[in-house]
Amino acid sequence: MIALGIEGTAHTLGVGIVTGERVLANVFHTLTTEKGGIHPKEAAEHHARLLKPLLRKALQEAGTTMDSVDIIAFSQGPGLGPCLRVVATAARALAIKYNKPIIGVNHCIAHVEITKMFGVRDPVGLYVSGGNTQVLALEGGRYRVFGETLDIGIGNAIDTFARELGIGFPGGPKMEKLALKGNHYIGLPYSVKGMDLSFSGVLTEAVRKYRTGKYRIEDLAYSFQETAFAALVEVTERAVAHTGKREVVLVGGVAANNRLREMLRIMTEDRGVRFFVPPYDLCRDNGAMIAYTALRMYRGGVRFKIDDTVVKQKFRTDEVEVLWG
Ligand code: ATP
Ligand code: FE2
Repeated sequence: MIALGIEGTAHTLGVGIVTGERVLANVFHTLTTEKGGIHPKEAAEHHARLLKPLLRKALQEAGTTMDSVDIIAFSQGPGLGPCLRVVATAARALAIKYNKPIIGVNHCIAHVEITKMFGVRDPVGLYVSGGNTQVLALEGGRYRVFGETLDIGIGNAIDTFARELGIGFPGGPKMEKLALKGNHYIGLPYSVKGMDLSFSGVLTEAVRKYRTGKYRIEDLAYSFQETAFAALVEVTERAVAHTGKREVVLVGGVAANNRLREMLRIMTEDRGVRFFVPPYDLCRDNGAMIAYTALRMYRGGVRFKIDDTVVKQKFRTDEVEVLWG
């Protein structure tokens, strides 16, 4: 079976084509702005403009045609309304035109499900991106959120601090490089609240300290990462302890960060659990994860009527009954 997935919850439009075992194509385009930040209407226009060329590119790369595709999938939420609507409309049009089943996929769940293409079975997922920060795992037939950010996503916190430091956008890779040159830890507010996380405090304090002019920016970048990542690792570890699961996966754009990977590797080694990070193009927002999750859903008996395809801006992770195994 072949599934085609369209991702477009935020500023990345992606088209992926997969089988149950392999990624045949995974192409994307991200709308970037000078200052960072995102304008929903502009992102939606970007998606509408690029859908056709990206679709063509994906089919070409996969060496297939729409007729050979078995399932059309799309990111149903959570995300920005205008972006979601463009993607859902395109998916509906394709499903009707080519007479194929359509499946709407929860974006956060797809980030974790794609790791199963690599033999992961039942992990605790740490999903870290610009807009999202969530620790999730299957329990009682649903993906439960064990901890999440109460304010901003870790990626946004990093990007905002990087902008303040004047090192450019996106800030993640630049902060990571700068942090390697830091060697002095500067105290910043630690941000675990119960099982949840908060990054606005560490951001505000880091900015304040930077503005005093008393600290090296390398040390501030280093301390920012150490503080925020320690909180992520702590919540992940507690979810592992609570669920008794034997696998941890790191997904989302911030999964690129080597220091975060290292900290998670140490924690998982200590606990004797497996740690896995997918290739980066399957970590960031992408169409292949949407296609792959839809394929698993379809095989598990999930079917959508056109009425079921309305977009869900606030689509919750635990809304989805996981009927597939
Ligand atoms: P979502 O819509 O799911 O929130 P997104 O639009 O933020 O996703 P992603 O590609 O998943 O898109 O993630 C981008 C984020 O990843 C940015 O905030 C970027 O700074 C961050 N990032 C990328 N590389 C690194 C890195 N090496 N270290 C830390 N953060 C990184
Ligand atoms: Fe994402």
